[in-house]
Amino acid sequence: MKFPIDRFQSLKTPFYYYDLDLLTRTIDVAMDQAADPRYHIHYAVKANANPLVLAPIRDAGWGADCVSGNEVEAAVVNGFAPDSIVFAGVGKTDDEINYALGVGIGCFNVESLPELEVISQLATARGVTAKVAIRVNPDIDAHTHHYITTGLNENKFGIDLRHLDDVVDTALRLPGIKLVGLHFHIGSQLLDMEPYRLLCLKINELQAHFAEKGIQFPSINVGGGLGIDYDNPDANPIADFKSYFDVFRNNLHLGKNQQLHFELGRSIVAQCGSLISRVVYVKQGVEKQFAIIDAGMSDLLRPALYGAHHKIENITSADAAEEVYDVVGPICESSDVFGKDEKLPGLHRGDLVALRSAGAYGETMASRYNLRPIPASVGI
Ligand code: LLP
Repeated sequence: MKFPIDRFQSLKTPFYYYDLDLLTRTIDVAMDQAADPRYHIHYAVKANANPLVLAPIRDAGWGADCVSGNEVEAAVVNGFAPDSIVFAGVGKTDDEINYALGVGIGCFNVESLPELEVISQLATARGVTAKVAIRVNPDIDAHTHHYITTGLNENKFGIDLRHLDDVVDTALRLPGIKLVGLHFHIGSQLLDMEPYRLLCLKINELQAHFAEKGIQFPSINVGGGLGIDYDNPDANPIADFKSYFDVFRNNLHLGKNQQLHFELGRSIVAQCGSLISRVVYVKQGVEKQFAIIDAGMSDLLRPALYGAHHKIENITSADAAEEVYDVVGPICESSDVFGKDEKLPGLHRGDLVALRSAGAYGETMASRYNLRPIPASVGI
């Protein structure tokens, strides 16, 4: 990626940089590959809720996938059509449900029987009908990091297959509820399409089962999770949307007039974002050389939380002779490390480094640990 270094010099580091041209190209490719009037993409706001990022996604006419009342509000404030908003999450509070009913969201992705009952009561009290999809836990292993695997029986998400008939029957008879579909999400950062193929087969099976009972759902929502190439962001700046949509196109049997919904987050926004930071000190250890930068795990939590690796670049002097560094942040935690034994063009105090692929789950997972400020953002 070519960084606008001149523009960066006057900015206080660390900051999130968004390449809005790459974001627009990513949206275009995803739309081309999804081209089917029955396919609808809802952007997963949890990946990045920055208005700079939300604007082109809204302008593409996409819906929003939200997991809190505040995310629903952010989607509405940023101009997403309320009826294009879907709302998942195992712990929706009464306040959040009431807010979402008030703005008239498109669908609650319901994760438990007690939640279904509460939505029914609150909708009835307001004299409105809540559209709901039942989130199904399909017991499919996404083979990704265990913290971001969601579709196994051991996970807290969705309704177990053994309870599904009961919950569907309840949804069909409860007042204030209109059952519109089934929802699935098996995990995040999936690069192998096989779990999605298995998901399609499972959905076909479930649809056949419900058809026998005379039930056809207007919509199916297959969630998100398409992964990106963290190691080679320049070689693969745009996720493999073709393989992803092809799996569904080739394996999922949609019923007559049935709509298919997707909830993509990371694959849309990850590669357009970098966390830009400055080297504060280069410190010689006994066996190691540390590059201490002014960004820390409070600004990009993924390495500390998941052992994830984001490509690190010296963007001040890309051609200097290479040296080996542990690249670390300033925070008082041993896990505040971005890279061990990183081979980088020689770093000096004041140099700018880019932590790549930080557009998804970077800014939204930032905290004020050590009373650090939340970094600013710039979109160019
Ligand atoms: N739909 C549901 C119901 C979800 O739970 C998620 C993500 C998505 C859609 C969007 O998934 P995506 O397309 O972004 O993979 N903080 C972790 C990722 C957590 C994902 C949580 N759910 C990370 O930094 O890797």
